[in-house]
Amino acid sequence: MSIAITGSGSGIGAATATALAAAGHDVIGIDLRNADVTADLTDPAARAAAVDAVLERAGGVLDGLVLCAGVGPHVPDPNLVVEINYRATVAFLDALLPALRKGESPAAVVVSSVASTHIKWEDNPIAKGTEAESFAQAGDFAGQYAYASSKNAVTVAVRQRAVEWGEAGVRLNTVAPGSVDTPLLQAGMDDPRYGDAIRNFVAPIGRNGTPEEIASLITYLVSPQAGFIHGAQFVIDGGIDAKVRPTAV
Ligand SMILES: NC(=O)c1ccc[n+]([C@@H]2O[C@H](COP(=O)([O-])OP(=O)(O)OC[C@H]3O[C@@H](n4cnc5c(N)ncnc54)[C@H](O)[C@@H]3O)[C@@H](O)[C@H]2O)c1
Repeated sequence: MSIAITGSGSGIGAATATALAAAGHDVIGIDLRNADVTADLTDPAARAAAVDAVLERAGGVLDGLVLCAGVGPHVPDPNLVVEINYRATVAFLDALLPALRKGESPAAVVVSSVASTHIKWEDNPIAKGTEAESFAQAGDFAGQYAYASSKNAVTVAVRQRAVEWGEAGVRLNTVAPGSVDTPLLQAGMDDPRYGDAIRNFVAPIGRNGTPEEIASLITYLVSPQAGFIHGAQFVIDGGIDAKVRPTAV
């Protein structure tokens, strides 16, 4: 079974690639470096070339797709956060659906975030097409604003595709991690604008997650055992969402 995974070089993506390979899958990793397919996913032409390279390696048939590549709020240009976390993710989903349709028990998982719940779609500047102006006005919080907007937008993009993908026989879900110990989280903690907020975002369970814990959920969601799970978001956050939004269901 061939499974393609973006962001395979680090953190949650690397742990997921390891777990999928251990489960016997033929994993095709896509990342900036040290991957089967190297590409900078900020660039639409590089995304298209990466899709072609994945299809060539997979012989045009994919059984799974995991979209992990992403950057955190610390990245200097908030528009890049949207380009990688949202636009590249949606581009991969749409470009690889035909190959997934030909797969065996095909499924895709997108790594969103609990940050997807920090903004409503109606207020999301990506929905309104006003992101550049909105982020420019957000000052020091532009990165966090762009990150939450990008993650809200990928979660909505998955839900908006549930009917088409379900009818195509391809399951599609998101996972929404809270704080997970990876280089991305560390970069946020090292940023004076966001460090305290991230450190104070402590889950009821009293620790951050590990990349392997998120990989375990993703591996389940792409497996045939998750055959009736489709169009859903799975919060995996040690209870932080329940703490912050106890009445949201
Ligand atoms: N770590 C957390 O606390 C946390 C929480 C919620 C969601 N997430 C999400 O999990 C996903 C994985 O993040 P992580 O924490 O494992 O971070 P990470 O930095 O360890 O891994 C991210 C990977 O994405 C790749 N990537 C970044 N920009 C790229 C580009 N332009 N082109 C190609 N590849 C690129 C990086 O090279 C890296 O290998 C991200 O989408 C992130 O938003 C992380």
